Amino acid sequence: MATPSESRHGMWSSRWLFILAAAGSAVGLGNIWKFPYIAGDNGGGAFVLIYLVCVAAIGVPIMIGETLMGRYGRESPINSMRKLIAVSNAGSYWSAIGWLGVLAGFFILSYYAVIAGWALNYVQLMARGEMVAITAESAQQVLSDFHASPLQMVFWQTLFMVLTVWIVSGGVSKGIERAVKWFMPLLFILLLILLGYAVTSGGFAQGVDFMIGFDWSKVTVDGWLIAMGQAFFTLSLGMGAIMAYGAYLPSDAKISSTVFMIAGLDTAVAILAGLAIFPIVFANGLEPAQGPGLMFVTVPLAFGQMGAGILFGALFFILVSFAAITSAISLLEPALAYLVEEYNAKRSRVAISLGVICWLLGLGSVFSFNIWSDVHVLGDKTVFDFVDYVSQNIMLPLGGLLIALFVGYALPKELVFEQLGLKEGLAASLWMLSIKVIAPAGVLIVFVKTIYDTVMG
Ligand code: PFF
Repeated sequence: MATPSESRHGMWSSRWLFILAAAGSAVGLGNIWKFPYIAGDNGGGAFVLIYLVCVAAIGVPIMIGETLMGRYGRESPINSMRKLIAVSNAGSYWSAIGWLGVLAGFFILSYYAVIAGWALNYVQLMARGEMVAITAESAQQVLSDFHASPLQMVFWQTLFMVLTVWIVSGGVSKGIERAVKWFMPLLFILLLILLGYAVTSGGFAQGVDFMIGFDWSKVTVDGWLIAMGQAFFTLSLGMGAIMAYGAYLPSDAKISSTVFMIAGLDTAVAILAGLAIFPIVFANGLEPAQGPGLMFVTVPLAFGQMGAGILFGALFFILVSFAAITSAISLLEPALAYLVEEYNAKRSRVAISLGVICWLLGLGSVFSFNIWSDVHVLGDKTVFDFVDYVSQNIMLPLGGLLIALFVGYALPKELVFEQLGLKEGLAASLWMLSIKVIAPAGVLIVFVKTIYDTVMG
């Protein structure tokens, strides 16, 4: 079956735009909000190291696989899978990859929009000077007061969903490309400014030590599990987002070096965010293991002490919001592209309908912080914790495992080598080894442990 050279949804203007869009998907709340707090929860340096191993040994090979699947299919993940299954003479059960992805996208976006809404709220809090010269206790209080108000939380969640739907409705070049072209470079610059502040905060040495200080006794099985879940989440793997974006990648772009660049950018942002946040934590006597509120307490605190803190603080949260939007778009794209293909429907109409469904689902997460804080699923998890846990620790690894097995064992080797521009040799053997053995084995071990822990409580 011949593969088309263009997608009906549009194409990235160049390989660089794919890098920006995929990095836009990868760099998001996972790097700036989640990575620092889970590294804090799991002992710092030891966790950072196993996270890096997971990114390099499992994440990168699977990302290469997902991109090549998308580029061959040139359609939404569900329809690309149909083509790939046909060309491989594989069983139709492999189509689960596409469907699982759409489901995971909804789950993630539902709570992602809630946290991104917090960032939007903090833009105005910072800009109005509410955080100027604030103490650590008051910064905590501001966050707790916000969590206690379902109305405020829903307001900001709604605003975020509206912005996401608006951008994604614009299409590949007029919507997604335009957004990532501006937001990504700006995000980088702001992160560097915050890092500059952290260096002078008095807690830098302690912060660095926390991030890279390695202590074997802190490496736990759970740490591996969380690190792998985070590697999938942060690289946007296992749910078709990268496959959907790969469908718009020009045929002459080299996939492997492109993926290395995306993973490198993503990792750099996570590490820089940690190096920017932990020194401030230590300099202000806060706890690194503070959980989801970490970024929303330490960053306002830092900017509140800074000369032009009102300006930079507001800008920082604007950029966190945009980092979140460029990820949120990619969470919607697989389902959106599928419905447009299947029903020949208008992109904007589909985007609005999907946005509404996700918004409704997200109310469960909003209420977890207030009126439903006593509602528990699976042990002691709130709805928010549950949706986060199931998507990150079960759906994404399962999707990633299936993708690795499909690329490694079902797809014809010639198709894979042609897409990657690979010839037999060391690089090809190494990649084949990781996609066939290392990545599936790594995911499987961690995955079985997750299921065991979940069932055994
Ligand atoms: N990679 C994003 C982040 O780190 O915030 C989250 C994400 C986006 C996960 C898209 C999965 C996805 F498909």
